[in-house]
Amino acid sequence: MFYIISGTNRPGSRSHEVAKLVKPLYEKNFAQVEIINLEALPLQELSGQSYGDGTKPAAVTEAIEKLNSAEGVLVICPEYNGSMPGALKYFIDFWSYPKTFEYRPVAFIGLGGQFGGLRPVEHLQQVFGYRNAFIFPNRVFLINVWNVLKDGKIHDDTVNELLTVQANNFAKFIKGLNDNKLSANFFNN
Ligand SMILES: Cc1cc2nc3c(=O)[nH]c(=O)nc-3n(C[C@H](O)[C@H](O)[C@H](O)COP(=O)(O)O)c2cc1C
Repeated sequence: MFYIISGTNRPGSRSHEVAKLVKPLYEKNFAQVEIINLEALPLQELSGQSYGDGTKPAAVTEAIEKLNSAEGVLVICPEYNGSMPGALKYFIDFWSYPKTFEYRPVAFIGLGGQFGGLRPVEHLQQVFGYRNAFIFPNRVFLINVWNVLKDGKIHDDTVNELLTVQANNFAKFIKGLNDNKLSANFFNN
C-alpha cells in the first residue's frame, strides 16, 4: 500500500485537497493508495505517556502500523510559521524508529506563500534524512497556493506536469529500490 499524508489537522485544509488531487496519479503506479488525513486522527488524545510503546489512541496506532509497511510515503506539507505544522511533527514523534522510517521511500510536496513550502519540506528532509529514510529528490512546491489551487483544481499546467512527473518517477525510484531489495519492507517485516 502507498500512503499519502495530508500534513495538517486544519479543517478544510488545502493540503488535504492536494492529497485528493494527486491520489489518482499514484493509483496509476500503485495497486492501492490511501490518504492518511491528520485532521481525522485524534492527536489531541496523545499524551506524554504515549511515546514509544505507550498507550495511543487506536486510530493513531493503526495509522502508524500502516506506515510501518508502506511501499512508499508522500508527505504533503504546508508551511506554518516557517516550518511544518506542529501537528505533523507531533504525529511523526510517535512513529517507531527504525521501523517507520528506515529505508522507507518518501517524497514531499510543499504548499505555502512565496516559497511554496520550501522551508517545511527542507525541515522534513532533515528529519527523514536523520532517520535514514530513502528521500526521493524531486520535490514539488505550490507557490502562493491560494492562487494555484481554486475550486478543487490546480490551475497551473506547469505544477500539474511537475506533480505527474514526480509521481511517475517516485514510482520508478521505489521499483528500483525494491528490485534490489533495498527498501524498508525487505528489512522491517
Ligand atoms: C498557522 C499558519 C501559519 C502559516 N505560516 C505561513 C508561513 O510562515 N509562510 C507561508 O508562506 N505561509 C504560511 N501560511 C499559509 C499556508 O502555508 C497556506 O495557507 C496553506 O494553504 C496552509 O495549508 P493548509 O490549507 O493545508 O492548512 C500559514 C498558514 C497558517 C494556517
